Amino acid sequence: MRSADTGTQTVRLRIWRGDSQAGRFVEYSVPFNDGEVVLDVVHRVQATLAPDLAVRWNCKAGKCGSCSAEIDGRPRLMCMTRMSLFDRDSPLTIAPLKTFPAERDLVTDVGFNYAVAGRVPPLAPRQTEPGEHHRIWDADIERVQEFHRCIECFLCQDVCHVLRDHESNKNKFVGPRHLVRLAELEMHPIDTADRRATARHDLGISYCNITRCCTEVCPAGIAITDNAIIPMKERVADRFFDPLRLLAAKLRSRPDSGPAK
Ligand code: FES
Repeated sequence: MRSADTGTQTVRLRIWRGDSQAGRFVEYSVPFNDGEVVLDVVHRVQATLAPDLAVRWNCKAGKCGSCSAEIDGRPRLMCMTRMSLFDRDSPLTIAPLKTFPAERDLVTDVGFNYAVAGRVPPLAPRQTEPGEHHRIWDADIERVQEFHRCIECFLCQDVCHVLRDHESNKNKFVGPRHLVRLAELEMHPIDTADRRATARHDLGISYCNITRCCTEVCPAGIAITDNAIIPMKERVADRFFDPLRLLAAKLRSRPDSGPAK
């Protein structure tokens, strides 16, 4: 709502307050100025109305991935979401990421992501001769540069319904962020490891059913589904479900019946 006299605008925010045990939305009304982002307004609430409000942030530039939240139901970075997007009188709802356990207010425990990160086997660069350096063509490295833009905000993990709606899947599926890491390593020009069995059996790549929700919320604009997950699914299918391969494996495993008589 904008005041005609002063040009000052006021916004009503419904911010989730609570901890791992219980919580509820509390409404605050604060002024905001043209050009501000949601994080500015949340900080104003913290500075003027709720000094104990817990909110995680660091860079305020969309680079550290700390300020993830659900703003009007959509996972976003608070520091990169302009207030001008929400031109209306109804309250703006700000909630913590639903997929991870609440710690306090807008802060969640994203430890799941660090726990499963180690399940993706690291880079295994091919050996070089003494004095030799790796030479990489620009065209070969370009493909993985996109994946380096990930800031680990975990918005893709939050929106992924496989994790969000089924807590038990966290044992079986690592989520889109880690499939991006998998693709980054698999497509790296000097890497020698074969992670296809890991992708299938340990990372649960088949749980992804390509709804593209992760791609839609990625603030770094990574084409998670098309450029990381689908190519990795294709590699896994090629390794485990290619009919010619299966036939060849079957023939190889047949007991030798000796020469025909
Ligand atoms: S504060 Fe760093 S991404 Fe928002």
